[in-house]
Amino acid sequence: MQRREFLKSTFVTGVGLLILPGGARAGRNSPGNKLNIALIGTWGRGEAHFDAIGSENVVALCDVNEDHLAFGAKRFPGAKTYIDWRKLLDDHKALGLDAVVCCTADHTHAFIANWALNRELHVYMEKPLAISVEEARVVRANWLKRKNKLATQVGMQRHANPNFNRILELIRDGAVGELQAAYAWGNRQIRRPGYLPAAGAPPANLHYDLWLGPSPDHPYNPGYFSGGPGANCLQWNMYWDFGAGQIGDMGSHTMDLLWNAVDAKLPTSAEAKGEKFNPDVTPVECESHFDHPANDWRGPIRVHWYQGGLMPNSPPNYDLNKIDHGAMFKGTKGFLVAGFDSRVLLPLGDNADMTYYKPRPQDKMLPPIGDFQQQWINACKNPSLKTACDFEYSGDMIEQMLLGLVAYRVGKKLEYDGATGRVTNVAEANELLRHTYRPGWTLNG
Ligand SMILES: NC(=O)c1ccc[n+]([C@@H]2O[C@H](COP(=O)([O-])OP(=O)(O)OC[C@H]3O[C@@H](n4cnc5c(N)ncnc54)[C@H](O)[C@@H]3O)[C@@H](O)[C@H]2O)c1
Repeated sequence: MQRREFLKSTFVTGVGLLILPGGARAGRNSPGNKLNIALIGTWGRGEAHFDAIGSENVVALCDVNEDHLAFGAKRFPGAKTYIDWRKLLDDHKALGLDAVVCCTADHTHAFIANWALNRELHVYMEKPLAISVEEARVVRANWLKRKNKLATQVGMQRHANPNFNRILELIRDGAVGELQAAYAWGNRQIRRPGYLPAAGAPPANLHYDLWLGPSPDHPYNPGYFSGGPGANCLQWNMYWDFGAGQIGDMGSHTMDLLWNAVDAKLPTSAEAKGEKFNPDVTPVECESHFDHPANDWRGPIRVHWYQGGLMPNSPPNYDLNKIDHGAMFKGTKGFLVAGFDSRVLLPLGDNADMTYYKPRPQDKMLPPIGDFQQQWINACKNPSLKTACDFEYSGDMIEQMLLGLVAYRVGKKLEYDGATGRVTNVAEANELLRHTYRPGWTLNG
């Protein structure tokens, strides 16, 4: 807007104070073009967002732990504070809210994402986006309806590492020949026997019932809250009602390394195996395998995920065990092995001369993403800008991984119809695509 037009649409007092017309007190339509942001989860991972959102207007904070809320309020003293995210989102109009950044426990992610989208708010959601197939599908559908006006990003910030672009280029440009299969693995192993036993009443600063939120009831135990800042998720994310184990933890980052390059949507089948099923705790050792149809640049491929020490077979003359969290791409001409910051091309056969591979010229290389959180902030302000890990890309990826957990539980190969979100050959698998919630909590509210 030209300055003259802008001034026409506002009232200017003698001392230069601007009073904006009805409701547009601040926020993305204000002169500074700053977003009005709410941060839900104000400690731990939440702190990693302080600087990124500190350049905007942080108007509301929410945490179920009053000490953690005070920690956030110290950095953003002007923000209104809440202990229940539903109340905060109900107040979105009064707050003039534009956007939400969410760093809560995984079992609340899809709820908060849906509630925020349904109130026309931009969302940055820490990974994982969801912990059941149904949750992933509902969030993605809610965003797709609004994709031209709302910006979304899942906290898979390693995606901004230039290595992700370089891997994609190598695969698309034929460095391994025709892509046939892709593998990702993660070697974090955190073993727990079961939900923690009852251990007295929660401390006065912790609203434990709100922390449980939609989860079925489990007694309080301080063990769920005994981790350091940004790592406390490792105290609860392996339990079925609170997370998805390593799939939602490091798996979200590691599968992203693969997902970015293979350009896949939903799989047509899933099969998996692993350690003995524990009704309380997600498996440590597990491997899952998926079929993906051909697309316009490659034939059909198999996608594989390994965790908890299980590994794909190493290619000739290379030991994959050197990489704790990595990906491998297998093609007709060779292998590409990658970590978050590394990549190694392994052509097949002693005579391989790489003449089949035509590297793209410098001016055709993918541009850097830059700062990952800023990419989302920019897209909130300008709907024509895209984010790398929006709720479609990330929703498809986590839906596949969560379908793998269902295949593990059922112990059969599942045929999957991505259009309807139904398993077509094993009726009981469909029961496991969704979670059961405590009465009073609405996923799509
Ligand atoms: N992107 C990354 O690299 C990365 C790194 C660490 C954690 N994470 C993700 O961030 C999230 C938080 O992890 P963490 O280790 O900080 O966990 P945490 O248990 O410390 O929780 C973070 C904060 O959220 C608050 N909280 C939890 N549930 C809430 C609710 N329903 N409403 C409001 N506040 C709530 C907690 O009290 C705490 O202050 C997890 O989903 C985790 O997967 C991402």
